[in-house]
Amino acid sequence: MEKLVSLAKRRGFIFQSSEIYGGTGSVWDYGPLGVELKKNVKDRWWNAMVRFRDDIEGLDAAILMHPRVWEASGHVSGFVDPLVDCKTCKGRFRADKLEDARCPQKPSKRPGEHDACQLTVPRQFNLMFKTFMGPLEESASVVYLRPETAQGIYVNFLNVQQSTRQKIPFGIAQIGKAFRNEITPGNFIFRTREFEQMEMQFFVEPGTDMGWFEFWKAERMKWHVELGLDPARLEYHQHTAGELAHYARAAFDVNFDFGGTLGFQEIEGVHNRGDFDLGRHQEYSTKKLEYFDQPNNKRFLPYVVETSVGADRVTLALLVNAYREEAVAGEEEGRVVLGLHPALAPIKAGIFPLVKKDGMPEMAHRIADDLRRRFPVFYDESGAIGRRYRRQDEVGTPFCVTVDGQSTQDGTVTIRDRDTLEQSRVPADALARVIQEKLDA
Ligand code: GAP
Repeated sequence: MEKLVSLAKRRGFIFQSSEIYGGTGSVWDYGPLGVELKKNVKDRWWNAMVRFRDDIEGLDAAILMHPRVWEASGHVSGFVDPLVDCKTCKGRFRADKLEDARCPQKPSKRPGEHDACQLTVPRQFNLMFKTFMGPLEESASVVYLRPETAQGIYVNFLNVQQSTRQKIPFGIAQIGKAFRNEITPGNFIFRTREFEQMEMQFFVEPGTDMGWFEFWKAERMKWHVELGLDPARLEYHQHTAGELAHYARAAFDVNFDFGGTLGFQEIEGVHNRGDFDLGRHQEYSTKKLEYFDQPNNKRFLPYVVETSVGADRVTLALLVNAYREEAVAGEEEGRVVLGLHPALAPIKAGIFPLVKKDGMPEMAHRIADDLRRRFPVFYDESGAIGRRYRRQDEVGTPFCVTVDGQSTQDGTVTIRDRDTLEQSRVPADALARVIQEKLDA
């Protein structure tokens, strides 16, 4: 993880938020390469869940919602973690996770085990960030930063259904920011206070919910494998009754093995939420949220199967999964490679003139300008060609194109594959098609 954090900063994937002021606790900024990588993850999700299906509609609901939403959803009363303070070291810990924490004064012990520890009795701490709407800071103007995007979907259920004339079963999907005042954030972008969720709520007829739950459980695992995550590092975790969230009847996590001390951790949750949310919003808003099944002339409150995945957590899983250090035959120095799926790589091709003369930079610039209109490329003429390859390997660029002496004579260039290191010669004017075919494959 330390190597990844360092690479992420050095190469412009991820920076600590407000670093020049000493940083903000567990909030991160995505740099030029990180923003492309995360965008590619979100695009893959949006395509798989919305564009490629005719039974899921997209939505982009606001972050700020009516405060009653969070009373109805159960978050005001139930979205809490038990918190203990240590009066000696002023540390704060989750009372239900003390076994995972270390005493700051004696790291070989857990909080409470060291003689000097003075833990308070646990108190419930709500994880929602509060702010005020309008100029008055009073209880009547309290609003919350949403802790999940799902509620924006529930309150728009009938708007979407009626405007699109979708029939049940159908889903609504959205990608957006969520905020949680986590007591113990950490592990880089694994658990942060501001993050992005990609959530889909699938509305079904009661009684068919467990069938759809199994369907989405399998679909979502397939999606992670298709991203290139190693299947041996993925597993399901079924929630026991004690682990279930207040809204869930059944739940599975998709866990990824982050290695090191983190090990297997949740990257996505698939939940059967029954009619908990629609039922509560119907009760609190006093607006009917039933679906009218015209052919069978009946009304019912749909059940919901939810898939909820963190864009940041998947990005971290992809980085961990992709990072490798390897020896290179015939070279003293090894190389660091991010073996990202080409479709996810922030830069698709590095474009290099072999030397800075004889018309090679001009031709390489022309190629880069042409390819840049189709996908992100990086022009680089500085340093030895081997170093330029290494710089691209380290950020996961799947292809490197070199313009050499032959190129200016016959219009061909070499294209090098990041993983096999094989080089082939192709006509420069066929590059866009050749690279696109490789990306699609
Ligand atoms: N709507 C259901 C829901 O929010 P969750 O299991 O609390 O369920 C879903 O969160 C996903 O959101 C998690 O699997 C994780 O990927 C991501 N997530 C949750 N809390 C996070 C945090 N503090 N930092 C980063 N990602 C987080």
